[in-house]
Amino acid sequence: MSEVRRPRAVDSVFGAVHLGYIVVQSNRQSEWRRFGADAIGMHVDTLDGVGLRFRLDDHTCRFLVQRGPAEDVTALGWQIDDHEIFDRIIARVADRGVPIAEGAAEEAALRGVERLWRFAGPKGMTQEIFTAPVTTPEPLRMRSSGWVTGEAGMGHVAIVSREPEALRGYYETVFDSRLSDYIDENISGLKMKIRFLRVNERHHSIAIANLRGVKIDPIRTRVQHINIQSATLDDMLASYQRVKELGFRMAWSVGQHTNDRELSYYSITPSGFELEVGWNPIVIGPELESTWEPTTYQGISIWGHTPVGETVLDKFAQFRQALRTVRTPEITVPELTGGRIR
Ligand SMILES: [Fe+2]
Repeated sequence: MSEVRRPRAVDSVFGAVHLGYIVVQSNRQSEWRRFGADAIGMHVDTLDGVGLRFRLDDHTCRFLVQRGPAEDVTALGWQIDDHEIFDRIIARVADRGVPIAEGAAEEAALRGVERLWRFAGPKGMTQEIFTAPVTTPEPLRMRSSGWVTGEAGMGHVAIVSREPEALRGYYETVFDSRLSDYIDENISGLKMKIRFLRVNERHHSIAIANLRGVKIDPIRTRVQHINIQSATLDDMLASYQRVKELGFRMAWSVGQHTNDRELSYYSITPSGFELEVGWNPIVIGPELESTWEPTTYQGISIWGHTPVGETVLDKFAQFRQALRTVRTPEITVPELTGGRIR
């Protein structure tokens, strides 16, 4: 890491945190293999008796798809640059009374990290932190030419929340996240607000969306989508073609976002949440970072991103899910929301 990217505030950890891996629980193992390797174009490895693992780069794990019934994301893994910053994050969590525990050696091995520590996260999604990924010289065997990871981490996570300010406060408290911008959007007559948070040079590692004025969540899964970034435009478009040809469902066609200018499409993973494959988002390097001011964009996309093949049944399922959430409160971790309104 270069000195210029170092946090400005004395104890800030901004810039030293990177989305490292995603843990998914799914019994649809063969669909995941076809989807991840044959359609999206990631490198796949089989873990006997456990599940699958996808690679994007020299890290041995970027997605761990473990056998299990959740059909959802169960944990997010965050790579921390060094031990001093790692200890600072642990102290923040522990000092606020939230239990934090080291993962077992086998769990670390499955996730392709030397060691990991975990604590409670929003919507029941465990947050795991590590400093040392296990890398491999084994060449990538995949349909894509490459993926953009490195300093910007492996991509981003988008979450629909009924407690968006609590969620934003959580990532501010734990990782010193900064607000990149907002998008206001109308979808089927409902007003939606999205907050885009960055923890490094990636325009956002976390996006938090809510419906304005109503505390409902139409999404069954904890994440609405995960984003990964293709190395080239050709890679992104070829994977779009393969997703369609292999019969996987598309959610939104190719389009371009207003705020980070990323070109992308959204397909539906075998577990039901979406995977956004993108290309060429703006990077908030040191120069941009020093003068960045959040703004509000009207609308998610400059062009494209038209919905593909949503059925009446999909709408009905979302409506049922939304009703379910009227009565059950969303899981937050109030100790870590930094005083933002729950
Ligand atoms: Fe996204």
